[in-house]
Amino acid sequence: MSTRIDAFVVAVPGLEQLVLGEVQKLGVRPARPVRGGVECTVTWPQLWAINLRSRYATRVVVRVARFKSDGFHSFQQKLGAIEWGEWLDDGVGVQVSVTADKESKLYHTGAVEERALETLGRPLGEQGVLIRILNDVVTVSLDASGAPLHHRGYRGPAAKAPLRESLGAAIVTTAEWDPKKPLVDPFCGSGTIAIEAALIARRMAPGRSRSFAFQQWPTFDASAWERVVRGADGDIVEKCPPIIASDRDAGAVAATLENAARAGVGDNIEVVQRAVSDLALPARAGWIVTNPPYGQRVGGGDIRNLYDRFGAVLRDRAVGWHVAVLGSSDTPVARLHLPLRPALSTLNGGIEVALHTGVVPALAAPASVGSAG
Ligand SMILES: C[S@@+](CC[C@H](N)C(=O)[O-])C[C@H]1O[C@@H](n2cnc3c(N)ncnc32)[C@H](O)[C@@H]1O
Repeated sequence: MSTRIDAFVVAVPGLEQLVLGEVQKLGVRPARPVRGGVECTVTWPQLWAINLRSRYATRVVVRVARFKSDGFHSFQQKLGAIEWGEWLDDGVGVQVSVTADKESKLYHTGAVEERALETLGRPLGEQGVLIRILNDVVTVSLDASGAPLHHRGYRGPAAKAPLRESLGAAIVTTAEWDPKKPLVDPFCGSGTIAIEAALIARRMAPGRSRSFAFQQWPTFDASAWERVVRGADGDIVEKCPPIIASDRDAGAVAATLENAARAGVGDNIEVVQRAVSDLALPARAGWIVTNPPYGQRVGGGDIRNLYDRFGAVLRDRAVGWHVAVLGSSDTPVARLHLPLRPALSTLNGGIEVALHTGVVPALAAPASVGSAG
């Protein structure tokens, strides 16, 4: 098991440092952050552990080969020369995806994909083969994860505009939540932030209830994998502080309840149907971590009114609480009238988003709390 594999842990831009911290915590050395992920060298159990335990990564790919190629002939010859049997069992179906820069001779990704499939001589299937061509250098990788790692397996089909689970975890961590203190999400939607917070507090591995592509590889060792899973399970703690998720929408409340139960943290989250203007907080100050609606209009009203109201509620009822609000570039965060600073910039579903964090001061600008919504 001392084989070392070149791996790339893919991350949404902005989350690379968080992913670096995770892989280092698993003893992975060397590990180097680059835009879009972390390059590292891993053993097989480390590769499996990253898949099982990473809260912030999108997927893990392993490098199979790198070669120079200036045309289809050498491409097919070198791709065909790879000892594929070491990586994939005979007959395993593949899907090939190709990216190429315009400077490379092989820049036509569709044609490269066709030739690659022809050379591999495998049926179409689930196993991802990733081909990247940069300055005529071809890098061939295999996707070790399968479905992206933010597919934890707890989310039902009902969610509207949900956050990626990896981003939910990233904002809880970037907000510097102390998992001994309460956490409240008053715009919980399908519950991602509250569920990820509960998984963090209880030290539960996010990938515990899903499968991974590497489990189909000939290098997979079921008993060594069992040890990796048992190691992760051994970290779980029962203790969890109050985590409260609320939303004015009944469908969102139902989705949060179902998702939390599927994630194994149903008993750790109090789910309430209420508008933000009815927000009630535990006496002991903690963290409000939330992702209010984006866009100009919401529920038939102007988003600015919603932010005015949310700001008034926070200044009135949340003195001393930490606040972390995720918004897009057109989110009127300034209308909260709170001393918040951008703490993280990243993407959610292709939209640029930023997390704004701070503490509600005792003498924030006075304002009345509107009654609607
Ligand atoms: C962007 S979504 C939150 C998505 C959530 N983070 C997730 O991962 O599913 C915003 C949520 O705010 C809720 N909402 C809008 N106005 C509200 C209000 N005045 N009070 C409480 N919830 C509200 C919507 O019902 C919606 O579920």
